Amino acid sequence: MFFNFKSGVGRMAHDPSVFVVDTHATRPAVPPRLGKQKKQSGVAQTLLFVLVTLALLGVFFEAFFIYRLYQSEYVSITDSKEMPDTTDPDGRLLPSKPVAHLTDAQDAHHDPHVMAWSVIAEPLLYEMKYKDRHLIIQKEGYYYIYSKVYYSQGGAFCHSVMMRTKMYAGKGISLLEAREYLSKKDKEDKSFSNSFLAGVFYLSQNDAIYVNVSSTKQIISHRSYENVFGAYMI
Ligand SMILES: *[C@@H]1O[C@H](CO)[C@@H](O)[C@H](O)[C@H]1NC(C)=O
Repeated sequence: MFFNFKSGVGRMAHDPSVFVVDTHATRPAVPPRLGKQKKQSGVAQTLLFVLVTLALLGVFFEAFFIYRLYQSEYVSITDSKEMPDTTDPDGRLLPSKPVAHLTDAQDAHHDPHVMAWSVIAEPLLYEMKYKDRHLIIQKEGYYYIYSKVYYSQGGAFCHSVMMRTKMYAGKGISLLEAREYLSKKDKEDKSFSNSFLAGVFYLSQNDAIYVNVSSTKQIISHRSYENVFGAYMI
């Protein structure tokens, strides 16, 4: 290393004249020695100057290369065509995770039990598919699932969100369920009601979720937003 204090002290002890010459007033200065010392300090100053200059140059180049690095990174990000699009064709930001929101409409042809959802009412579908009255999961993870239906009361009504998974040989499994039973007295006045279900479930790729009711004839589909089914990854 350049700055070895121990060796400096040692040198002073062995050869004090090098350091004492200037301060010692009683002793006459010895020209050759002084000249030697001046020369030495001149060399030391030059060396110091060179070192400081090199250090400053180092800092300058470092700053320059860091600047270049940021510039090239910025350019490669903006130029890259592999960057996924973050907006849809209308310029709206895309969701960060899979999401689906389906509504009812005239084109939704219900099965006697399984509810169908509109494809013309601009369903929100991102990283999920809608096929044969089922929402198909593309990405494994936790999903918040919900469904709301508007129906006419008629003795008994059952609304459930079901899942089909390969693990259970494609059999329907109930995830959420709401039931209503009316007494004989209540059945006399025909009235309407709503049922809302929601919960969080772990779903795998190709799992299918759907809405099953005791009878789709009881579903009232006057307005698309009165019957809905959706899910989003959390
Ligand atoms: C729908 O629910 C009914 C009971 O309300 C049940 O009998 C039927 O098997 C279910 N259908 C499907 C496809 O899950």
